[in-house]
Amino acid sequence: MAYEVLEVRPLTMRIGAEIHGVDLRQPTNRQLEEIALAIAEHQVIFFRDQPLDHESHKAFGRAFGELAIHSGVAGLPDHPEIVAIHADADSKFIAGENWHSDLTCDAEPPMGSILYLHTVPPVGGDTLWASMYAAYETLSDRMKAYLEGLTAVHDADHVYRPLFPDVDKKYPCNVHPVVRTHPVTGKKSLFVNQSYTTRIVEVDKAESDAILRFLYQHVQNPNFHVRFKWRPHSVAFWDNRCTQHLATWDYFPQTRSGFRVTVAGDKPF
Ligand code: SIN
Repeated sequence: MAYEVLEVRPLTMRIGAEIHGVDLRQPTNRQLEEIALAIAEHQVIFFRDQPLDHESHKAFGRAFGELAIHSGVAGLPDHPEIVAIHADADSKFIAGENWHSDLTCDAEPPMGSILYLHTVPPVGGDTLWASMYAAYETLSDRMKAYLEGLTAVHDADHVYRPLFPDVDKKYPCNVHPVVRTHPVTGKKSLFVNQSYTTRIVEVDKAESDAILRFLYQHVQNPNFHVRFKWRPHSVAFWDNRCTQHLATWDYFPQTRSGFRVTVAGDKPF
């Protein structure tokens, strides 16, 4: 892959790259094309020193598709496409503490998410991403054959209702293939996650529980991961179709704060 205008520094052989040579507030068309190439190649990409305001954050997201409205968490009053990601000494929970891909409960889960942090704790607060290509590819051929054609339920109710008990809302619940094919790269990836996926449809509950437990444990293999150390004004852009991520909370009671937009996706196949 030849990059002409961006410097792309891979962070591992499987997942993650830092991108240099672009101001995300005013990217050129060629830079956007190379960012699209880089995310297809590396699954999650990172940028430093990008002081995004809400308009430039949204404009950058829209360069890759329509922005999705979060189906579980309310957006900012004047910017419904933006959700605040914030934790401080008063927080009782943080967003994304379990391995997950964003909003797989949706009928058309988001293609990608773009997180901008303006405030980071003095230590800690890293985010980890796991390659679901690697997770799939390292399964045995027998397990790949077993999973072929299976579907699973992805439910948001147990995720959001306990966090927002006062909100009277029906949260989405949808069924997706356990192994999906990436619409851009054509590669297969594992598409179940411990936050939203509750059940494999085609087998009985005990078997479903055992298989999902195995797959969730498999995803935790550090050889599939990249770990990002945030600095103020860093940006992460990840592809939800082939990654999962997890936010650490090892910085309490310090503050970590920023904003996220999600780029709409399509029906997994
Ligand atoms: C999330 O989008 O799940 C939160 C990630 C983070 O705060 O690092």
